[in-house]
This record gives sequence, C-alpha cells and structure tokens, in this order.
Amino acid sequence: MSKAIRIHANGGPEVLTYEDTDPGRPGSGQILIRHTAIGLNFIDVYHRTGLYPPPGGFPLVPGSEAAGVVLEVGQDVDWLKPGDRIAYATNVGGAYAEQRVIAAGYVVKVPDGISDEQAAAMMLKGMTAEYLLRRTFKVKAGDTILFHAAAGGVGLILGQWARYLGATVIGTASSADKIELAKAHGFDHVINYKEQDFVAGVAALTGGGKCDVVYDSVGNDTFPASLDCLKPLGMFVSFGQSSGSIPPFSMSLLAQKGSLFATRPTLFVYNAKREDLEASAAALFEVVLSGAIEIKINQRYALKDAGKAHSDLEGRRTKGTTILIP
Ligand SMILES: NC(=O)c1ccc[n+]([C@@H]2O[C@H](COP(=O)([O-])OP(=O)(O)OC[C@H]3O[C@@H](n4cnc5c(N)ncnc54)[C@H](OP(=O)(O)O)[C@@H]3O)[C@@H](O)[C@H]2O)c1
Repeated sequence: MSKAIRIHANGGPEVLTYEDTDPGRPGSGQILIRHTAIGLNFIDVYHRTGLYPPPGGFPLVPGSEAAGVVLEVGQDVDWLKPGDRIAYATNVGGAYAEQRVIAAGYVVKVPDGISDEQAAAMMLKGMTAEYLLRRTFKVKAGDTILFHAAAGGVGLILGQWARYLGATVIGTASSADKIELAKAHGFDHVINYKEQDFVAGVAALTGGGKCDVVYDSVGNDTFPASLDCLKPLGMFVSFGQSSGSIPPFSMSLLAQKGSLFATRPTLFVYNAKREDLEASAAALFEVVLSGAIEIKINQRYALKDAGKAHSDLEGRRTKGTTILIP
C-alpha cells in the first residue's frame, strides 16, 4: 500500500482526501515509479472543480506533473531500468501519489544538473513556455509580447525564456511583490492589472505600437481587453482561464480589432507525438542547464496538504512554482 490524494466527486479543496491506495504492477509498456516531488498546476484545479472532466472518472488521483525514480519496468520497456530518474507532464492525472504506474511513453529521463524538485516544478510549466514561445507564435528578437499573471508558475519561466529570445516582455500581476518577482524573471515591464487599466499601460509602454502576441491564461477578467493590446495582424493566445472561461464571441470581433489571429492551444496536443515531447523536454533542459532559465521552488507543501495548496493557488496567494512532497 502507498498513500495518494483521491477525489470522489467534484468540489472545493476539501474533496482532496489522503488515502491508502495500491499502485499496482506495471503492464506491457508501463513502469512503476516512486515520486520524489510533484508539481502543482492550475489544471489540477480544473479537474477538481469539474471545469475539465476527470481523466478516467472517479475516484480520481489528480496531478499532472512529477519527478521520481523507476522501481520496476513492464514488458517492452527496454530504455528504462530501476533506479533511473524520470519526470513527466500528462493530462491523465495520477501524480498526487507516493507511487504510481504510468505508460513509459509519457516520461523522459532527467539529466544530471537538474534536481528532482526542479524537474517536478518545471516539466508542465516549462514545456508550456516552450511551445507557446517557439511553436504557437515564434517569438523573435525585437518582438513585444504581453503575458498575464507574470508571477505565476508558467509566468516566471516564460518571462525568462522570452527575454532570452530577445523579446520585449510586458507582464501583468496583482501585487507589488509579484511585480518585483516577475521583473527578476525576465519581464521588462509589469503592470498591476488590479490597480491600472492594462490596455492603457501597454499603449503607454509601447508608444501606441502595442504587442505582436498576447498570451492570456486569465480568461474572463482580461477578455476582450487583451485584444486591444495587439497590433494589426497580432496573435491572441488564450491558453487558460484562472478567472473563468471567456464568453463565446463573434469572429467579426477579430476583424474589428485589427484582422487578428486567435488560438486556444494545449500542451498535450503540441506534445502528443513522442518526438515532439522529446524535443520540447530537450529544449527546456538545455535552457535550464545553460543557466538562461533558473528554476526556483517558490512553495513546498506535504502531499497530504494538497487541499491547502489548491486553496492558496486559487486564492492567488502563490507565486511561481509549487511542489508537493510525498
Ligand atoms: N493550455 C496549456 O497548455 C496550459 C498549460 C499550462 C498552464 N496553462 C494555464 O496557464 C495558467 C497558469 O497556470 P499555473 O499553473 O502556472 O498557475 P499560476 O499562474 O501560478 O496561477 C494563476 C495566476 O492567475 C492569476 N489570476 C488572475 N485572476 C485570477 C483568479 N480569479 N483566480 C485565480 N488566479 C487568478 C493570479 O496571478 P495574479 O494574482 O498576479 O493575478 C494567479 O497567481 C492557468 O490558467 C493554466 O490553466 C495552460
């Protein structure tokens, strides 16, 4: 027996219960792993509340990102062995556990020089930064970007990566200490969007020129204002909804706002093919190992306190990355 957090029905943080579970044995193509650190992500909140359907139904062991050690390999897994350090980001749940069985195709080996805690904190958020900056919109030197919730988990990684690519990086955040933290992680300018109209702020910072791309994971509270921060032919990337889903809108709005492009991407489609997952993880490991991006752990909670971690994430009390320790 090992311990895991389980959810038996959608609800608030109190539905996350710490229980005995049997992780099972690995079948063909699978491995049994012992987690050493588990990443906390907003998608875990969506699974808990029911905004996204629970992968595999109830009871659900939530969690989408972790690092650990291989304990046992199933048949047909010839590239991993017990003792290997691995990490992963998936949308199949199951990470809030001391041990789990997982398809080997989801994991990558963690290189020396990256700790288990860093790997658990960065796989989902860092590969999201990778595809948003390098594939959804290919950010290049001289581009100006706007990223909401700059001091969040994805934000602190993406800010550093965008600066490394040579962009002018504008962010938003809700408090003075978050603004300071974002500025220490690649953001050239950070607007307090609780106190200031961020559309006016972006216009002032860019001399009216606005942005090539807006990355918006806040959703309802920043829409449609985010569209007003874009140059003609700019790209609106809606990749999350921490304040609630954006309402349905007419395509003609994109014409009115300057012949804009709009997309709603997800990591799990961008990295669905094994070759894309490997390239994404390799690019992330490279920028971290080179020192271009620093991965710090901003909050740690015991796995059994996952409910407290959720309520802090939803309550905007976390900054940067959060991990759960089994
Ligand atoms: N599509 C994808 O592939 C993908 C992958 C990863 C993450 N995401 C999305 O990216 C976003 C960031 O994820 P994360 O795990 O790194 O979370 P996070 O950014 O650490 O936390 C969310 C942040 O959103 C801001 N926020 C604004 N309004 C909010 C509200 N009403 N309630 C709660 N937070 C609010 C808060 O920052 P302030 O206090 O500064 O406003 C909060 O800290 C999430 O929306 C997530 O779903 C999408």
